Amino acid sequence: MIAFICVLGFISGCLAAPCTHTNSAEHTEEQVIARVIALADHNNDGILSVTDLAAYFVINFDHNHNSEVDKNEFILQWHETFHDEKAFAEHVFTHFDTNADNVLNLSDLFALNIRLDTDGNGTVTNKELESYLQLIYNAC
Ligand SMILES: *[C@@H]1O[C@H](CO)[C@@H](O)[C@H](O)[C@H]1NC(C)=O
Ligand SMILES: *[C@@H]1O[C@H](CO)[C@@H](O)[C@H](O)[C@H]1NC(C)=O
Repeated sequence: MIAFICVLGFISGCLAAPCTHTNSAEHTEEQVIARVIALADHNNDGILSVTDLAAYFVINFDHNHNSEVDKNEFILQWHETFHDEKAFAEHVFTHFDTNADNVLNLSDLFALNIRLDTDGNGTVTNKELESYLQLIYNAC
């Protein structure tokens, strides 16, 4: 599966060290994914715009209010909100940080939005985010 994902190039960082998905609240990955989507789809319209992504991931994860989310901020907030272990949160970060500079900012969210739009029709649906998160969990 991991090799398959790498070949398709959906996921950067596919050569990163393996991690395990352990959740301190014993939430399953399906439960975590559903919660990520519910929180990220800010206006609850089934569509994920860059604004939705920024409204959730930048505003809630940026603890020092510099308009970007560094790796540690991301790991702490993902762990706190979704209860996935920190190594797993870091694994998610490596996929969201599209230019691999250890900072998640609006440029990454634009690139992520394009990556999420797997049917390329210009609109990211919740279903497309769900599939992408599933790939991230499967690549762990
Ligand atoms: C995001 O960070 C990158 C690298 O530090 C930078 O080149 C880019 O201009 C930043 N984007 C925004 C929207 O601040
Ligand atoms: C893209 O496809 C989704 C369904 O997969 C649809 O909801 C959305 O409206 C489409 N967007 C455009 C711009 O056609």
